[in-house]
Amino acid sequence: MNAISIPLVKVAMPPREVLMPALEQVLYSGMIAEGEHVYRFEKEFAATFELPMAIGMSSGTAALHIALLLANVNAGDEVITTSMTAEPTNTVILQCGAVPVFTDVDAQTGNLSPEAVAAAVTPRTKAIAVVHYAGFPADLAALRRVADLHGIALIEDAAHALGAKHNGQPIGTIGDFGIFSLQAIKHMTTIDGGVLTMRDANYATLARKLRWFGMAKGVPRTEVDISRSGFKYNMSNVAGAMGVVQLEYIQPLIDRHIENGRFFDQEIAKIPGLDVTRTDLGSEPSYWLYSVLSEDSDDIERRLAAAGVSASKLHRPNHLHSVFEPFRRPMPNLETYYRRLTHIPCGWWVTDEDRQHIVETLRKG
Ligand SMILES: Cc1ncc(COP(=O)(O)O)c(C=O)c1O
Repeated sequence: MNAISIPLVKVAMPPREVLMPALEQVLYSGMIAEGEHVYRFEKEFAATFELPMAIGMSSGTAALHIALLLANVNAGDEVITTSMTAEPTNTVILQCGAVPVFTDVDAQTGNLSPEAVAAAVTPRTKAIAVVHYAGFPADLAALRRVADLHGIALIEDAAHALGAKHNGQPIGTIGDFGIFSLQAIKHMTTIDGGVLTMRDANYATLARKLRWFGMAKGVPRTEVDISRSGFKYNMSNVAGAMGVVQLEYIQPLIDRHIENGRFFDQEIAKIPGLDVTRTDLGSEPSYWLYSVLSEDSDDIERRLAAAGVSASKLHRPNHLHSVFEPFRRPMPNLETYYRRLTHIPCGWWVTDEDRQHIVETLRKG
């Protein structure tokens, strides 16, 4: 029996002796809904990741939904998007009544191809939703040019890419709107939670109203007016307090994802028959997962499983779901990428011995 067991993803929790008193304090404070802990978390999250602002939400999905609404995506509008992602990237487009225009990816990165995006723009296009898949930044400079040329919004779904950079700029700040997910297995978690950031601070008031039924906070409830209906997308003080503690510990965790990722970049690239994700030179991935490409991904997955390493494709290209059937389009590069893809563990829990074991297992193939 194999004693080694390296999971593909893992929940990161701060030390019990630090987290539990902070949680206990907020749980029995009588103020467990949105409040000061959320606002403190927002300030500290923005400062940590060099964002112009952070608006806490109940999930990354909620943040993405609001980003689309702020980008004025309405029924019948088109949003250029990727199918190579987790489903919420695209279910929120349907929730706006809009059309997801599935656009082909770069076969090497799985990220939206700027050329394919440029070719997909029509007079009905309102936004481009770009995912930094597995933590590898998409070609944001090129996508920004396409968005500017056509006067459409660029929305960065940075759910996988907390701490990544592009040409020295923090991920999430090159698009008009950026979102992060704090769901259980991301770089950091508040159990569930999300963050919305934006370039133009003028949208912040509407974003805050939309996260809370459409109402402004701080106005007496008997006097407040809802002029546009919103959602119940706010973050709780409990999640905010957890987020504040998580932030104290996040940088070394992200650094370890990056160290492991760079190790794999070097070592796996040398293995005949295997290919690594090569992003453009200005990109600094935060390696939520590590993506290996090969001609037999099933075999890689089997061999790693036999060696106690959990590996998988993790996601299903979204257009394969029946709900997205009406929007299917040919995406030959995505097909190639997905056929060749295996994600391997790369996070903070992967030790030097673990990563050596992973590389040796791959080498033996
Ligand atoms: C690429 C991507 N976008 C959006 C989301 C949605 O985030 P959340 O689960 O926090 O709603 C996720 C996570 O599930 C994701 O992986």
